[in-house]
Parts: sequence; C-alpha cells; structure tokens
Amino acid sequence: MLNVDLKLSKDTRKFAEDVLSRLDIPSKVLDRSAILPGFLDVHVHLREPGFSYKETIYTGTRAAARGGFTGVCTMPNLDPMPDSLENLEKQLSIIERDGVVRVFPYGTITKKEKGTDLSDMEALSPYVCAFTDDGVGVQGKDMMRMAMEKARSLNKMIVAHCEDMELVKGGYIHDGRYAAMHGHTGNPSESEWKQVERDVGLAEETGCAYHVCHVSTKESVEIIRQARKRGANVTCETTPHYLTLSDDMLEESGSFRMNPPIRGEEDRAALIEGIKDGTVSVIATDHAPHSAEEKSGGLRNSLNGIVGLETAFPVLYTELVKKDIISLERLIELMSTNPRERFGIDLEQDFVLMDLEEPFNIDPETFISKGRATPFAGKRVFGKTLITVCKGRVVYDYRW
Ligand code: DOR
Repeated sequence: MLNVDLKLSKDTRKFAEDVLSRLDIPSKVLDRSAILPGFLDVHVHLREPGFSYKETIYTGTRAAARGGFTGVCTMPNLDPMPDSLENLEKQLSIIERDGVVRVFPYGTITKKEKGTDLSDMEALSPYVCAFTDDGVGVQGKDMMRMAMEKARSLNKMIVAHCEDMELVKGGYIHDGRYAAMHGHTGNPSESEWKQVERDVGLAEETGCAYHVCHVSTKESVEIIRQARKRGANVTCETTPHYLTLSDDMLEESGSFRMNPPIRGEEDRAALIEGIKDGTVSVIATDHAPHSAEEKSGGLRNSLNGIVGLETAFPVLYTELVKKDIISLERLIELMSTNPRERFGIDLEQDFVLMDLEEPFNIDPETFISKGRATPFAGKRVFGKTLITVCKGRVVYDYRW
C-alpha cells in the first residue's frame, strides 16, 4: 500500500484493512494503491422521479460508487419536484429501493422552482440535506430573503444556483473570446456574480447558512473571499471542469455545454487560487446526465449538463495533484472532509481503495451512468477506483 493514507480515522483505517484483506487483491495492485475516505458529492442530478431515460437512482449511485463517492446530495429539478413531503416521498422510496450509496435529497426553495411561493420547507426539513432551486436562480430578492429567514429558523442551509436571468441575455457559453470568434451568444460573468453578491448580503443580514453552487467566475470567488473574511456563514463549491478548462479549450460539441458555462482562463486561475486559500472549500461534480439525442445539438443546441461522477477524481488527481498544484490531502479535504463537515453528513465505515499509479484513458462507452457527455473523453488519467465500501458493504469492485 502507498504511504498516503490520508484523512482516515484510526478506526476506519483498521476496518478498511480488515475488509481489504478478505478481498484477495493482488499485491502488485495493492502496492500502487491508497485507502482514502469515501467522497461526498453535494451536487448531482440523478433524474428520478421523472426523467429516468437520462439517469436513475440505481445507475447514478452505481456510477457514484465507481467514482469513489459513497454519498451524493441529489438536486430537486425532478418531476414531481420535492417541494412538499408528499412529492419527496416518491423520491425517498426509490432511494430506499435502488440506492447503492448514501443519497441525501435536497428540497426545493420555492414551489416547482418557480420563485413565487416558498416550498413546504418546514415539512421537508427533517428529510432533506438543504434547500435549493438548482437549475434556476431565485430571481426575487424578497423571496430569497424570506427563504433564508425560514431556513435559518429550521437550522438548514440555503444552497444557491446563482443566475440572474435578465443578465444572461440568451447566452449559452461564456461571453469571451471563443464566443466572439465563433459567432456564439455569450453569457456574461455578471449573470452569476451579481446574484452571489446579492445573496451574500442577504445571508449576512439574516444569519442564514449559505452555500453557492458551481462557482465559475473570478468575481464570485472574490465576493465569497471577502464575505468569509468578514466572518459570514458562506461557503461555495466549484467543479472539476471549471478548475481544468477555459473557454479557449471549447469544442463545437454538446459535451462542452453546461450552465454556468466554462469561463475564461482568468476565472479558472481564480478558482485554483480559491481552492488553495480555502475560499472554495468544496468540489462537487454537477453530474447532469442527458440522453445522447439531447446532447447532439453541438454547443448551440444541446441541453446544459455533463456527467462527472466517474471522472472527477481521476481528472483532479491528474491535473492538480500530479502537477503539484495542490496536495492529495487538500484534494481529499475538498471532496470528502469539507463537504461532510459543511453539510453535517457523516460517512462512517466508508472508504475507497484507489490505484494512484496505473494510467487509463477516459472512455464514456464504459460509464455506468446513462449519460455519456464529458469534455474529458479520451483523456489519459491516473486515479482508478479499485474498491468502494459504503456502510461496510462493497459497492464497487474493479473486477466486477
Ligand atoms: O448544466 C446544468 N445542468 N446546469 C444546471 O443548472 C442544471 C443542470 C441540469 O439539470 O441538467
């Protein structure tokens, strides 16, 4: 075993060694590997109920296990949306039946994510990890203030997709050089950061715990940095694609289209600074599967969203750790320790055995997820999951 077994409690480590000793893994494979704590992805779309042609709880949680994730927080843009207990129960019963790793659903902030009436936050509160209208921004400032006041009284976090629709102006990729050169409609950075700025003010005013989804711009990073310096209860996440890609790397393919869009090189650099100095404390995937047809319209006409559960660790380990940008320990904080702490989720008895030395190529055809769209197709990476154990049970084995 490699001597990089990080951030594991003594108990988990002993337990892991005990489980692994019974799995008959060849010693030459073990010699390349490390035991890591199970990762927690606080931003995934598992599409059920409502859109099982894109993904199901079963395929999505198996994909999570393959990526080393033993816990996932599921976004509420479903049909029906979990805006009442009755609606949430439909999702809970599928999770109970089909979930391979731990699944923690979000409740919506507003009814049907329409931004006009609050969801049944009180009834949902005991069963959801937090509240979000992910997929759309809450447009009204007063509505967001009301949501934060309510969430605070329930001791829950507001997790915000920040997007001011008046500022998007029909843009679907970053409003930068690539859009200008190739005749695309650009989505300006302020569509994100203006709403981050508004919400940070509201979080400070109301005292609500507040977490920003998929931060993509340098301005958002700076706003959050300053808020945290003032002691505000504000955190944020970014994703593997915003940390490793910029708009000069775009291709005319639906696999490069998501919301928010891949931004400029200065934004990417600011996000890297953010994960280094702790301003950005969580990396989530925004795993957002769609059908092949829905992703076949190029940059211009595809639906927003790429998959990420099966590529996040290898992409980040290869691009950030192997290139000495951050340590493996910091990467584990970002993917496991910090999200667990911020969301108050304990993943006792969960761990991953990860091969850190044998390279492989990312091949979407081998994904367990139903989604295949990834900008990392064909990339040569390190960091292959061998075994994932969740609640003491083997949920992924590379030999299956
Ligand atoms: O790219 C995205 N896909 N961004 C979102 O905000 C929603 C998500 C989805 O549900 O497909």
